[in-house]
Amino acid sequence: MGLTDTIMVLLTGQSWRVAGQAAAQPSEPLDFPAQMTLDGGKIDLRLMNGYDRAAMLDFSRSLPPHDLLFLRRDITQPKVVEDWVRDLQEDRYVTILALRGTQIAGYATVASDGLAWTRHVAELLVLVSPSMRGLQLGRILTEQAFAIARQRGVRKMIAQMTPDQSAAMRVFSHIGFEKEARLRNQLIDRDGQLHDLQIMSLDVDEFRAKIDLMAISAQHEFV
Ligand SMILES: CC(C)(COP(=O)(O)OP(=O)(O)OC[C@H]1O[C@@H](n2cnc3c(N)ncnc32)[C@H](O)[C@@H]1OP(=O)(O)O)[C@@H](O)C(=O)NCCC(=O)NCCS
Repeated sequence: MGLTDTIMVLLTGQSWRVAGQAAAQPSEPLDFPAQMTLDGGKIDLRLMNGYDRAAMLDFSRSLPPHDLLFLRRDITQPKVVEDWVRDLQEDRYVTILALRGTQIAGYATVASDGLAWTRHVAELLVLVSPSMRGLQLGRILTEQAFAIARQRGVRKMIAQMTPDQSAAMRVFSHIGFEKEARLRNQLIDRDGQLHDLQIMSLDVDEFRAKIDLMAISAQHEFV
């Protein structure tokens, strides 16, 4: 039985939520550069490189401060973008850019920390310009980041956000992420205000096993 057949069988059963999450996981990333139409406008999707430093600074400096809170690094700083480019060049990070013309409309990153004992883990980060939200760009970028992470053999994916970022939780839940931990007062913003940090995660092997198990029991029900 192919993956699509399996998913169709699952969709007819009780496990529609997990089946829906599996269906939202692309089997492989797009062949970048790629183009799509969103809200009547053309969006280019391609991998970030060193020539994107200035456009990234323009983008990050246009964002509301709260959106920058979940990021480990302050990407409004040239030095930080410089380090980011080095991480791309050294293959610790992969970043997909969504561009409207020459302007960045959003991005998604697959980030590894390069440490031996967490080499199976990657963090997925996604950020969309406020003017482009609600058009499914966040979902598309997250799905593509997921596909890249899986292609790179990542076994556990995590995402971090403040608990009020419901859109972020939705995009990650769509592809099977679950809430794993909430760290109280873990973040401090520029005004000294404390915020909780929500960690979501997806265990790739465990999710696959869940799907396989459900497919087997669905097949039994159909016999
Ligand atoms: C999270 C983020 C990338 C989503 O981008 P987006 O392009 O607006 O997302 P989409 O249009 O694909 O919408 C995703 C889902 O969130 C829902 N959503 C959008 N705005 C929402 C809001 N304010 N409150 C609750 N849900 C919302 C949409 O309805 C959609 O759900 P659906 O597919 O079930 O209908 C964007 O809000 C963002 O950049 N936030 C700040 C950074 C952040 O929190 N990043 C996540 C941590 S890595």
